[in-house]
Amino acid sequence: MRLVLLGKPGSGKGTQAPVLCEKHAIPAISTGDLIRAAIRNETELGKRFKEYTSKGELVPDTLVVEIVAERLTENDCKSGFLLDGFPRTIAQADALATWLQNNDLSLDCVVYIDVPNEILVERATGRRFCSESGKTYHLKFAPPKVEGICDVSGKPLMHREDDKEEVVAKRLAEYDEKTSPLVDYYKSRDLLKQVNGVGSMDEVTTRIADSLR
Ligand code: AP5
Repeated sequence: MRLVLLGKPGSGKGTQAPVLCEKHAIPAISTGDLIRAAIRNETELGKRFKEYTSKGELVPDTLVVEIVAERLTENDCKSGFLLDGFPRTIAQADALATWLQNNDLSLDCVVYIDVPNEILVERATGRRFCSESGKTYHLKFAPPKVEGICDVSGKPLMHREDDKEEVVAKRLAEYDEKTSPLVDYYKSRDLLKQVNGVGSMDEVTTRIADSLR
């Protein structure tokens, strides 16, 4: 199974990805996670990424395409993969299509998690995460058992720099301008499944599973 999860910032891509990956036994490839790891490790690429992510802007297509293409050649992607947060521009979608064609592969489906902006700001600003376990929480919708502490690692939870309200607004504007055209792009290729992302996490999981049946 080769899947793309499409949706605005905070729509639930990162929440739904592990459930789908476990079900279909495929790895999740999140460009956001790859980019944040490069920033954390202070690599040369990471320093360049930070200039964009801290302002809520997309990083340049050529840099993202390069890291995704490299990741897709790893062994665990042979059985398929789930792309979370990639592609995010028409140029990235075209690059992915070319990569797939060159490797005699194709996408099975693009799941678009649809959530209105007013809900997204609350979801993003209330998000907390653990850099050790990778688990994501929400202050209101998915709180940890002990306030501020990861259930899995016992480490303090962190707030993403780009989850501040003013940066979230910029990320949503970037989405509208550069990513939203992908809905029609994949619709016209008969790959798009649109799922209502409003409701509990379990409800959204069920809707996605139904859309893939
Ligand atoms: P990235 O990390 O991909 O961020 P994003 O797409 O903005 O998505 P988020 O991680 O914010 O949200 P999500 O949809 O995963 O939501 P989540 O499940 O966590 O990218 C970050 C940055 O990296 C970009 O701004 C850009 O600069 C750069 N970048 C990344 N990819 C790039 C690319 N391809 N090209 C160029 N630049 C790129 O949920 C959010 C919160 O809501 C959580 O707290 C969760 O617990 C909660 N929640 C989830 N579902 C529900 C629900 N149903 N009900 C209630 N709460 C819920």
